[in-house]
Parts: sequence; C-alpha cells; structure tokens
Amino acid sequence: MASISFMYYLLALAMFSDVTLAFSSRLSPSYYDDVCPEALRTIKRVVEDAVNQERRMGASLLRLHFHDCFVQGCDGSILLDETSTIESEKNAAPNNNSVRGFEVIDKIKSEVDKVCGRHVVSCADILAVAARDSVVLLGGPTWKVRLGRRDSTTSNKTEANTSIPSPFMDLPTLLNNFKNQGLNAKDLVVLSGAHTLGFSQCLLFKDRIHTQTDDIDASFASRRRMNCPREGGDTNLATLDQTPSHFDTQYFDNLLLKKGLLKSDQALFSGDETNDLVQNYSANYGNFWKDFRGSMIKMGNIKPLTGERGQIRSNCRKVN
Ligand code: HEM
Ligand SMILES: *[C@@H]1O[C@H](CO)[C@@H](O)[C@H](O)[C@H]1NC(C)=O
Ligand SMILES: *[C@@H]1O[C@H](CO)[C@@H](O)[C@H](O)[C@H]1NC(C)=O
Ligand SMILES: *[C@@H]1O[C@H](CO)[C@@H](O)[C@H](O)[C@H]1NC(C)=O
Ligand SMILES: *[C@@H]1O[C@H](CO)[C@@H](O)[C@H](O)[C@H]1NC(C)=O
Repeated sequence: MASISFMYYLLALAMFSDVTLAFSSRLSPSYYDDVCPEALRTIKRVVEDAVNQERRMGASLLRLHFHDCFVQGCDGSILLDETSTIESEKNAAPNNNSVRGFEVIDKIKSEVDKVCGRHVVSCADILAVAARDSVVLLGGPTWKVRLGRRDSTTSNKTEANTSIPSPFMDLPTLLNNFKNQGLNAKDLVVLSGAHTLGFSQCLLFKDRIHTQTDDIDASFASRRRMNCPREGGDTNLATLDQTPSHFDTQYFDNLLLKKGLLKSDQALFSGDETNDLVQNYSANYGNFWKDFRGSMIKMGNIKPLTGERGQIRSNCRKVN
C-alpha cells in the first residue's frame, strides 16, 4: 500500500515538477566514463593549449557556453553556420563580431572524436566542459559538469537577438531576462562575475563613459574615454576589470566604487535588491567561488536535449 502511494507521489511529482528540472536530472557527470573515458582529458588538453596561446580565449569560451544556453537551452545551437535552412545565431546582434572561440571548439571536437574513435561527445557538452576548464585555468573554482546534452538540429537567430541580455539593460530588465531562463537574482549577480575575465568593445560602453551621471566614477570614465572616443574607435577593447586573465573579486570591488564598465554591470550595484550580493562577493572570495560553481551548473542545465531528442553532430558547425 505504502509503496503504491509512493509511486503515485513520484508520478505526480514527475507530472507537475518544473520541466527544466525534469530534463536536467538526466544529465550526469559520469556520462562519458564508459563510452569514452578519455573525452574530458582531451577537452582539457586542447583548452589548455588554446588558453596558453592566448589568455583571452578562456573568457571567450566561457561566454560561448552562456550564449548557447540562453537560446533554446544548452544545445550547441550557437555553433551552427548559416545555410539555406539555418539562420545562424552567430549573426544575431549580440553575437555578430563579438563571440569568438569557434575554431577552438572545432579543434576540440576533432581531437575528441579521434580519441573516442566515433562521434559520441556532443558539441553542447564540449561547450560546457570547455567553459569549466577555462575558469579553472584562469584561477577560478572547479565543478563537476553534468553531461549527456545532445545537439540541436535547429538554431534561432531571432531568439538569440531577444534572449541574450544587452549591456544597456537596467536591473529590472536584467532580472526579468534571467528569470525567463529560470535563473534568479543571485544567479544574475554571481554569473555576471564572469566579467572578472575578458574584454569589451568600446561601442558597448561608450554611452556610459561619455555621459556624466552619478552612477560612474568620474576619473574612471575619463581614463576609459582615452581609448574610447565619442566618435569612432568602436571596436577598441577595454578589459572588463583590471585583471582580465584572473578569476578574482576585482569585478565586484569595482562595482562598489562605481567603476563597472558596462551599464549592466553597474546596474547590479545601484541601490537595489542585488546590492547585498555584490557586497558579499566583493568581501568574500569563497562565497563568490561557491555560488559561481552552483549557478554555472544551474545555467548548464537549461533545457538540454536528452534521450532521443537532438543528435550528436559530427561537425559542430552543421546538422548531420
Ligand atoms: C548579465 C548580463 C550580461 C550582459 C549584458 C553581458 C554583456 C557582455 C558584453 C557586452 C560583453 C563584451 C562583448 C564584446 O565586446 O563584443 C561581454 C563579455 C563577456 N561576457 Fe558577458 N554579459 C552578461 C552576462 C555574462 C555571463 C552570465 C557570462 C558567463 C557566465 C558572461 C561572460 C562574459 C565574458 C567571459 C566576456 C569576455 C569575453 C571575451 O573577452 O571574449 N557574461 N558580456
Ligand atoms: C555582421 O557584421 C558584419 C561586419 O563584420 C556585417 O557586414 C554584417 O552585416 C553583420 N550581420 C548582421 C546580420 O548584422
Ligand atoms: C524562434 O524564437 C522566437 C522567439 O523565442 C519564437 O517566437 C519562434 O517561434 C522561434 N522560431 C522557430 C523557428 O523556432
Ligand atoms: C533585436 O531585438 C531588438 C529588441 O531587443 C530590436 O530592437 C532589434 O530590432 C532586433 N534586431 C534584429 C536584427 O532583429
Ligand atoms: C553571503 O553569501 C553566502 C553564500 O551564498 C551566504 O551563505 C551568506 O549568507 C551571505 N552573507 C550575507 C551577509 O549576505
């Protein structure tokens, strides 16, 4: 009797529980242990080579996973090239001339397929593992990546344009954008901490540094204007914090001083509900580490394709 009602309970749970959770529960850190035990080591090796060649690549690979997950879930859709039937997400406004690292993903894919002897590792999983390995290489926390995502046969450029957050958003809009992905205020703040790594183009922060408001430090703005004029210089790069190859709390320290580079960065410390989180992570590296790890796993669990859905691509740029 007891076990029958327990089964009904499980059934009810399966029927009514959150869809994202129901699917993500099928991902597992040991997914490739039997089918290709060398897979994760191989990904790490290629990421190491790439990051040793250019430190920024670690940041770029982390961002690629984020931009993949926010469009149709973490399904490798961002990697598909334009064809007569695929409207590539690469050309969507938030990605065009901005996301990078595709050649590294291609290299990983070919090395992994070689070592596995067949196409068993998905491009979506490669993105998730490469993001983790990049963070570790640049001095950040490690975590066990849940695996078993399959690759999409579609992409959605319109969704990439509307779902990936813009650097011009204010706090309520950012919170809502993350909420649409099942992510909360803590996820927003701690994952924005990824901006402890990498660079931004002038175009994406010039309004902020050329407009005198009281949410930007005047001397910071003036220093940034030297390499980001009102007219021109749109693709000039600035670091997102002072240490673009070190996973540290500098990003949060800057927000406390009104020295966030993007409007969307400073919005996290603008007198509202997320202030405490920024202060917490600035003061305590351990909390930043711990929560970043948790939120990366949560982001990596967004709507994965599992079971019979999707496919394992043989070329990350093309549907089989
Ligand atoms: C909260 C909303 C976010 C906004 C509005 C945003 C926006 C941006 C922008 C505008 C850039 C510069 C792009 C360019 O210059 O072409 C950038 C870079 C970057 N973003 Fe974000 N981002 C957000 C969240 C995230 C998250 C959640 C992650 C990862 C977990 C992330 C990781 C990165 C990294 C690592 C870079 C540097 C990339 C490189 O140097 O190649 N960002 N972001
Ligand atoms: C992407 O950027 C290139 C410039 O590098 C431009 O020619 C092209 O029109 C842009 N694509 C879209 C879809 O905006
Ligand atoms: C692409 O995404 C948009 C916005 O989320 C949605 O309305 C549309 O149906 C999607 N297109 C395809 C072909 O799935
Ligand atoms: C992208 O979305 C914005 C609104 O978020 C819209 O103003 C813009 O026209 C869209 N661009 C394209 C190319 O669809
Ligand atoms: C800071 O963050 C940690 C980790 O999320 C949390 O346990 C702690 O309660 C927070 N402290 C404050 C003062 O908000």
